[in-house]
Amino acid sequence: MSNSHTLSIGDVAARTGLAVSAVRFYADEGLVHPIKSAAGHRYFQRADIRRISFLLIAQQLGFSLAEIAEALEPLPNHKAPSKRDWDSMARRFQKTIDERIERMTELRNNLNACIGCGCLSLKQCHLYNPEDRAHQFGTGPRYLQGDKPY
Ligand code: FES
Repeated sequence: MSNSHTLSIGDVAARTGLAVSAVRFYADEGLVHPIKSAAGHRYFQRADIRRISFLLIAQQLGFSLAEIAEALEPLPNHKAPSKRDWDSMARRFQKTIDERIERMTELRNNLNACIGCGCLSLKQCHLYNPEDRAHQFGTGPRYLQGDKPY
């Protein structure tokens, strides 16, 4: 049973709006680190709610569990992170966010150039890919990733 310092998995589920199975999944993935009792029950700290809140938002923004795990990795596992721990983690993750914003802005700009255009220009279009010429640059949407179609 939880006490004033720890939370049961049901408490965490209720507080975060997740199903108990989802909290268990995040624990199994190493994104939160509950303490296991001798009876096999998992107990969480209040700070785990903040960890889960962060990971839910990061997931909604399209970050993978691997990216989120990497962001959370510097935080201590079995004690509440200090303000300094959170600040350090936030500074590191901010670089990841900035890179993502840069890539999304480039993607938006490339797509905006095509919306309403319809030219499918061999020289400038990021969507037109006759005979899969983009494949010479590698796999994936090469022109949308920055390779030039000429
Ligand atoms: S359709 Fe004209 S640039 Fe893509």
